[in-house]
Amino acid sequence: MKICCIGAGYVGGPTMAMIAKQCPEVEVTVVDINAERIAAWQTDELPIYEPGLLEVVREARGRNLFFSTEVDDAIRAADVVFVSVNTPTKTFGEGAGRASDLQYWELCARRIKEVSTSDKIIVEKSTLPVRTADAMERVLHAGDNPVHFEVLSNPEFLAEGTAIADLENPDRVLIGGHETEAGQRALQTLVDVYAHWIPRERILTSNVWSSELSKLTANAFLAQRVSSINAISQLCEATEADVAEVANAIGTDSRIGPKFLKASVGFGGSCFKKDILNLVYLCETYGLDEAAAYWQQVVEMNEFQQTRFVKTILHSMFNTIAGKRIAVLGFAFKADTGDTRESPAIKVCRELALERAEVVVSDPKALGNAKQDLEGVESVVFEADPYAAVAGAHAVAVLTDWEAYKTLDFERIYAAMEKPAFLFDGRNMLDHAALHAMGFEVYSIGKGRLSHLD
Ligand code: UDX
Ligand code: UDX
Repeated sequence: MKICCIGAGYVGGPTMAMIAKQCPEVEVTVVDINAERIAAWQTDELPIYEPGLLEVVREARGRNLFFSTEVDDAIRAADVVFVSVNTPTKTFGEGAGRASDLQYWELCARRIKEVSTSDKIIVEKSTLPVRTADAMERVLHAGDNPVHFEVLSNPEFLAEGTAIADLENPDRVLIGGHETEAGQRALQTLVDVYAHWIPRERILTSNVWSSELSKLTANAFLAQRVSSINAISQLCEATEADVAEVANAIGTDSRIGPKFLKASVGFGGSCFKKDILNLVYLCETYGLDEAAAYWQQVVEMNEFQQTRFVKTILHSMFNTIAGKRIAVLGFAFKADTGDTRESPAIKVCRELALERAEVVVSDPKALGNAKQDLEGVESVVFEADPYAAVAGAHAVAVLTDWEAYKTLDFERIYAAMEKPAFLFDGRNMLDHAALHAMGFEVYSIGKGRLSHLD
């Protein structure tokens, strides 16, 4: 069997590397229009950073895993074509800011139709609005091409930073196919690929529409948990309840479960906001305004949490931060990645700058992206060394849960700062009592403040 994957990005690259590793008899070719990216996949300096990825790639590369820019040849030779190109939020025209931009997807479908000379299974890997397969099938079968294409949906649930573990040992794999004979045959072909390493009971099958919608729904539910606990964090601050204690108390209820209940400055990442807005747009398209408004609120609560964090900084520092140096520790949207897409740090830094604070951004992996995200924002500087960032600062704001921040020498940091020295923990990850004992004014999310000023 020959597999081709169009799109050598964050999803396509690791997923194909894992399939190639686990299925040595299957030939896997990953293609991309970006020649630089393809070149990088052929070296040990891979274009994306994921723990364990290089080992998986090395095992299969040159054996049955290939990277190429010869898109047409790879499509023509393949039995199965995964499409894993980006589907960003539309920035223009109808649905701008919410709907998915499907132009790359449709271009791929047209290309597949144009170059194919034999029947193929087309697998939607990219996150797409429900019923995209319908449109794709119409594009693929337009005209009098005798070739038959069977479209499957196989959404990806991996999270950044844990992609390899998520691929190796997933909670489930989901494959949607049509309820026709050809659809079921195609579905079985893909089930057999995953069954090389995933127990059969964890490979779920459904119809195409359920599969497409499950991806959007999974991300919406995850994001909703974060927004829900963040809404409670606000109430905790007003009532002296402690959000970590509340999360622990509710998380031990097996019906609720303990994961994704960490209050924070907000969720980020390339998927959550994009997928919820996509869901909202879909609901509206079907005239389901109440359902749309319900999910829209998850995004709004998230934006509000970020603004609220800046307000806490401003109000606690005597209602003025103009000219004050504020060291931001962490810019990535979560730990163990240099990715800053939709990171709450972007909004927080911009709003601090609007208050004319002097913002110093530090991050172990994300400074390159941070510079792009904050381009044009005045009074922002970048400093890789956290100790240099905090020198002379009036406040420190922790925005990413980097493990390394837990072991910083806070005595040294306190000594280097202006007094009173404020610390805002946007991830609730530090030892607040110890910091308070050192002399800090400590503010966190959903916990009472620890102050020496009362
Ligand atoms: C993935 C999914 O595909 C997306 O739908 C999901 O919502 C997020 O994750 P990701 O792998 O992160 O996207 O995207 P990206 O890293 O941008 O990779 C996409 C690749 O496709 C790029 O390397 C791009 O060059 C390539 N591409 C795009 C093509 O090869 N052909 C095209 O026509 C368009
Ligand atoms: C997410 C989904 O988890 C994954 O299944 C999907 O395929 C892509 O989107 P990812 O964006 O990589 O993955 O990160 P994730 O670990 O889900 O975190 C998203 C954001 O929520 C981060 O900013 C994180 O810091 C935040 N978060 C997460 C919280 O604030 N609190 C939590 O309890 C959990």
